[in-house]
Amino acid sequence: MSKIKKCLFPAAGYGTRFLPATKAIPKEMLPVLTKPLLQYGVEEAIEAGLDTMAIVTGRGKRSIEDHFDISYELEHQIKGTSKESYLTEIRSVINACTFSYTRQVEMRGLGHAILTGETLIGDEAFAVVLADDLCDNDGDGVLSQMVKLYEKYQCCIVAVEEIPPEDSNKYGVIAGDTIKDSTYAKNSLVRVNDMVEKPELQDAPSNLAIIGRYILTPDIFDVLRETQPGKGGEIQITDALLEMAKIGKVIAYKFDGTRFDCGNVDGFVEATNYFYTKSN
Ligand code: G1P
Repeated sequence: MSKIKKCLFPAAGYGTRFLPATKAIPKEMLPVLTKPLLQYGVEEAIEAGLDTMAIVTGRGKRSIEDHFDISYELEHQIKGTSKESYLTEIRSVINACTFSYTRQVEMRGLGHAILTGETLIGDEAFAVVLADDLCDNDGDGVLSQMVKLYEKYQCCIVAVEEIPPEDSNKYGVIAGDTIKDSTYAKNSLVRVNDMVEKPELQDAPSNLAIIGRYILTPDIFDVLRETQPGKGGEIQITDALLEMAKIGKVIAYKFDGTRFDCGNVDGFVEATNYFYTKSN
């Protein structure tokens, strides 16, 4: 059985909810305290044992590449000073993995972004992290928990959490049958048989929403190639995963940990307060 080594980061979106901050800065580079959102995601992937980061970027996103690279001028200026320690974390991230990039030329949805990343992933199972869902917990990170689950079940996995029903039109929402597995907390594993992208309250199949962590098997690419535009006229990963769910190949996992929706200002401020309190 091959281990999961690669992590895909769709990072081509415009970040319109953070305008004007995101006019010239990628939303993935907005910092929670001193660290850009994307770095949190990369660190979570490294902690899960992944060493190959595949980033789907777009126009105006070059600062992402510069961030995960050496800045010789800065290194030279800072070397031997008291400020050198500020670079410790990012240096260890750069040393722990490789980064490769491809560009999504047109914005045609998350499914399309993931399909664009095929060239970097190839024929192996991989993780997907949406950096604006920022996750934290004291034990194993969410991705680490999911990688372990994949090793046991060898199928697609989506991380889910319970949401207030009125929020269902912001998420992919799943339904299915509980899997009994004594290694996991009661009701934390669901064999998915239905999933709907951003349903209205009355159409939501449950209150379990997908958050931005996925493990996908490479057959998802063939499904995505056939997936027609869905919600919002975009190619949705939720629709492609529904095809896999119909043949029993998707598990939803209620993860351990806290997740912040940093795709909107309220969640971003909450995450900032949380990490600030934690760091003091
Ligand atoms: C995407 C997915 C959605 C998922 C969400 C998690 O939506 O399409 O199914 O629930 O991420 O954050 P987006 O937030 O990009 O609109």
